[in-house]
Amino acid sequence: MKPIISSSYSIIFNQDGYNELNLIVNKNNYSKVFLLVDENTEKHCLPYLYKKVDFSFQIIKIKSGEHYKNLDTCNEVWEFLNNNADRKSLLINLGGGVITDMGGFIASTFKRGIDFINIPTTLLSIVDASVGSKTGINFNSLKNQIGIFSDPILIIIDTVYLKTLDERNIKSGYGEIFKHSLISGNLFEELINNSKVLYSDKIIYNSINVKNNIVLRDRKEENIRKHLNFGHTIGHAIESIKLNSDSKVFHGEAVIAGIIIELYLSHKALNFPIDIVRKIKEHLENIFDKIYISSNEIKHLFNLLQFDKKNFSNKVNFVLLKDIGNCEVDINVKNEIIREAIDFYNS
Ligand SMILES: NC(=O)c1ccc[n+]([C@@H]2O[C@H](COP(=O)([O-])OP(=O)(O)OC[C@H]3O[C@@H](n4cnc5c(N)ncnc54)[C@H](O)[C@@H]3O)[C@@H](O)[C@H]2O)c1
Ligand SMILES: [Zn+2]
Repeated sequence: MKPIISSSYSIIFNQDGYNELNLIVNKNNYSKVFLLVDENTEKHCLPYLYKKVDFSFQIIKIKSGEHYKNLDTCNEVWEFLNNNADRKSLLINLGGGVITDMGGFIASTFKRGIDFINIPTTLLSIVDASVGSKTGINFNSLKNQIGIFSDPILIIIDTVYLKTLDERNIKSGYGEIFKHSLISGNLFEELINNSKVLYSDKIIYNSINVKNNIVLRDRKEENIRKHLNFGHTIGHAIESIKLNSDSKVFHGEAVIAGIIIELYLSHKALNFPIDIVRKIKEHLENIFDKIYISSNEIKHLFNLLQFDKKNFSNKVNFVLLKDIGNCEVDINVKNEIIREAIDFYNS
């Protein structure tokens, strides 16, 4: 597959990616190379990576999961780097979106920034999190509250890693693939007319391309990048509510709930055809379990919507769809319509 070219770096597939990695490390004279993993990517992905690289590196292991995407974990890694690294070090992030988001942030802030490379190992991080240069962590139970835009020097895409990924995480990644098809129109018919989760090489390539093309036009989210937030205003609020609850919700699952709710808002605010809303709801409900949102959590959700980074002057702003592949940004919706949309999701 042809590399996808981004602003200052390339997204390179399979063996070509490792060839480029070896070249970069040998050419750049890094003083040391570090590899960030969690216990799962250490077990399932690291043995494969060992066979692909011709340089040595030091492993930094953190605990897996969204719960650890926070300052405490950053402190541990910064502490380690402080004792072992210098400004000419390289950090390779081998893992899902938690590793690429947090590893990118740690690298970009350590000694005002060292080089980093992403090797995403979940479907979600392959099609979304590792691409687009948003890095960061959660803070005070708010998602991605602290962070920085920062480019990796290379992204390697290799779907071999997906062989060990469980079905729930594959579905979570499908959430973002589906969102990319809704906002671009690309492959929408193929996905909607199939009752299963589709993620062929073609679909993955296409999905990365949709995101990369948007980011190339608007890196700092001043206009068109807002399209990528479709489903995320509600999705992030649901994710935040569930961050410290016993019933864990994955990012892609929260986004799917957000997509159904925001499609209903799209119908109300922009006349998005209701028959397509229903068809999409049915398709997604075939694949995903419904997330139960209690009445207490709905109150919490409304509070969080006021804190959403995309809202200004206390108005709740949404990115909504006029039609498949046709987004409109900064659409204000009244609270009672949002309640109605949550009822629609629950029905
Ligand atoms: N920066 C962005 O633009 C962006 C976009 C979307 C999502 N995100 C962020 O991404 C995060 C979610 O990413 P995620 O879904 O990849 O979660 P994750 O990183 O927590 O990975 C999910 C689980 O899979 C395990 N795992 C990873 N690779 C594996 C493999 N190959 N085999 C077996 N197990 C494996 C991990 O250890 C973890 O337990 C969220 O924090 C979200 O905010 C960021
Ligand atoms: Zn997302």
